[in-house]
Amino acid sequence: GSVSSAPKLITTHTKMADEVPPPAHQVPAVSISSDGTSSSTVQKARFSDRVRIRSILGRPDGGAGLAGQKVRISGWVKTGREQGKGAFAFLEVNDGSCPANLQVMVDASVSDLTKLVATGTCVTVDGCLKIPPEGKGTKQKVELSVVEVIDVGTVDTATYPIPKTKLTLERLREFPHLRSRTNSISAIARIRHALAIATHTFFDEEGFLYIQTPIITTSDCEGAGEMFQVTTLISHTEKLERDLIENPPPTEADVEAARLIVKARGEAVAQLKSAKASKETITASVAELNEAKASLSRTEERSKLKPGLPKLDGKIDYTQDFFGRQAFLTVSGQLQVETYACGLSDVYTFGPTFRAENSHTSRHLAEFWMVEPELAFADLEDDMNCAEAYVRYMCKWLLEKRYDDMELMAKNFDKGCIDRLKLVASTPFGRLTYTKAIELLEEAVAKGKEFVNPVEWGIDLASEHERYLTEVVFQKPLIVYNYPKGIKAFYMRLNDDGKTVAAMDVLVPKVGELIGGSQREERIDVIMERIEEMGLPVEPYEWYLDLRRYGTAKHSGFGLGFERMVLFATGMDNIRDVIPFPRYPGRADL
Ligand code: 4AD
Ligand code: MG
Repeated sequence: GSVSSAPKLITTHTKMADEVPPPAHQVPAVSISSDGTSSSTVQKARFSDRVRIRSILGRPDGGAGLAGQKVRISGWVKTGREQGKGAFAFLEVNDGSCPANLQVMVDASVSDLTKLVATGTCVTVDGCLKIPPEGKGTKQKVELSVVEVIDVGTVDTATYPIPKTKLTLERLREFPHLRSRTNSISAIARIRHALAIATHTFFDEEGFLYIQTPIITTSDCEGAGEMFQVTTLISHTEKLERDLIENPPPTEADVEAARLIVKARGEAVAQLKSAKASKETITASVAELNEAKASLSRTEERSKLKPGLPKLDGKIDYTQDFFGRQAFLTVSGQLQVETYACGLSDVYTFGPTFRAENSHTSRHLAEFWMVEPELAFADLEDDMNCAEAYVRYMCKWLLEKRYDDMELMAKNFDKGCIDRLKLVASTPFGRLTYTKAIELLEEAVAKGKEFVNPVEWGIDLASEHERYLTEVVFQKPLIVYNYPKGIKAFYMRLNDDGKTVAAMDVLVPKVGELIGGSQREERIDVIMERIEEMGLPVEPYEWYLDLRRYGTAKHSGFGLGFERMVLFATGMDNIRDVIPFPRYPGRADL
C-alpha cells in the first residue's frame, strides 16, 4: 500500500453499515496485500472513534508499516516523564487490548505536560505514527507523536493507590476496583477470556449444546453439605422485629377491648332492627359493625406476631420462605445438565458455583466457575478422552491467540509456563488406576518421601499426593480413575468389583486436581441402593431417578475448575489473583 503524504484522520471516516469491517480482534493483526507486503491502513475500533493499541503494536511488523498514519488512541498512562527541561514528555500508554504500551510523545506546545505524566492518568490523543529515531534503546517499532490532546482524566498522585512501582499481588487484592490497571491482572483477564472462548469453541465444534443450569437450587449435587443458603426469612424477620419495637403488638387487653366493641355494635344493630328503624340507619350501623370486626381481626393477627424466625414444631418453618422450601446456591450444575443430556445427548454447562467450605488454601474459592460437559452414550474412557482433548485444545488456543500475554506471565511469574502449555498440547496424559496411584505413593514413602497425610488404600488423595504424582512421578498431566466408592459421590457408577466407582480426576502440575468426573450410575436399583447406603434422603432425588426409570442411558461427564485452569496456564500461585472478584472466607469485596 501507499502512505499518504497528507495524513488523514482515519477515525473520522464513517462507513456505511454494510461496509463496516469486522472488529479489529477478528481480523489478522495485519492484512497481507497481493504483493505480500503489509497493509498500511489501521483498523479502528468499531464502536468508538479510537484505534486499539493492539491493532497497531500487534502487527507482525510491530506497527512500523503504519508510520505516517494519523490515529486517535485512548488509554491509561503507565509511566510518564518530562524531558528536555519540560520541552516534551514521553508517555507509556496502555488500553488493555494487549500487554504492550504505546510510546506517546507530546510537545509542550501541544499541551500542559504536568497534567499528563502522572501514572494512572487517562488520555485520549490524536497523533501521527512515526518510526522512533535510531539508538534510543527502545524496542518499539513505532511511536505516536501527538497533534492534539482530546481528553484527560487526571490523577491525584498523593492518593492514587496503584503507583508506578510494583505492588505485591496480596496488596493489589486490597484494590479490586483498580487492579485491572496493572500488567499482570490485565494479562490474566485476557487469558481468562481466551480460555472461555476456547471452551465454547471446543464444545461447539464437537457438537455439544450449551445449557444454562440454575444458580439457585434445591438439590445438593455433591452431598457434601457445603451449600450457601438462599433465604429471605432473615431480612423479613429483622424488618418485623424493627416494626414490633416501633409499634408494639397489641396486648391481650387490647384484643379484649376490640372484642367488646364488636359485641356492642352487634347489639346496636339488633336493637335497630327490632325497633324497625329506617333502612339507612340500619345500613350505617351494619357498616360500623363490619369495621369493628375488621379491626378485631387485625388486632388479633398482630397480637400473634413474635420476634424471631417463624417456627413449626420447633424447627424453622421454610414454607414461609421465598420459595416455600429451603433453597441454596448450586455447588455444581451436573444433576440438572444430566436431564438435558438424557434427551439432547451431548451438552455442557459453564457457570458460577458456590461452596461454603472453610478452606483458606491458594486453590479454593467460595465462588468459582465450572465447565461441566455431560456426554450421552459415553463410558468412563470416552469421558477421559474428552477431558484430555479439551484441556489440550485450550493450551493450543492460548499459544495461538495469546502468546504475548503468555510471554508476560513467563517473564513476571513462571518462566516455565509456555513450555508447559507446549508440553500439554503435544503429549498424551498419563493414565493409572487409583489402586496403582496408591502403590506408587507407598513406594515413595518406603523410599523416604514424607507426606503430612498418611497413604493407604481408601484415602481421599490429598493435594500433596496429587502434586507428587503429577509433578515428580509423571511430570505431566495424568488421569487417576476407579476410586474407592466410599470417598466419592452417590451418582458415580459402581464397578464390577463392588469396591470402586468409575470416577476419574485429571491432575496437573502446579495445581493438583483440575477436573473431577465420572461415568454416571444408570441402573435404577444400583443407584437407589447407593443413596440408601450413603444415608441420603430419596425424595429430593426422585426427579433424578426418573432419568433412570424412563429410557435410561449410559452417560458420563466431568467438571473443570475454570480458575484452576487459569492457574495452570499462567503459573500464578494463588487462585485469588486469577478471578476478577475473589470470594473466600472473610472476604467478598464489591
Ligand atoms: O470434583 P468436583 O467437586 O466435581 C463436581 O462438582 C462434579 N459434579 C463435576 C461433574 O462431574 N460435572 O469439582 C470439579 C472441579 C474440581 O476438579 C476443581 O478443579 C474445581 O471444580 N473446584 C474448585 N475450584 C475452586 N475452588 C473450589 N472451592 C473448588 N472446588 C472444586
Ligand atoms: Mg473432585
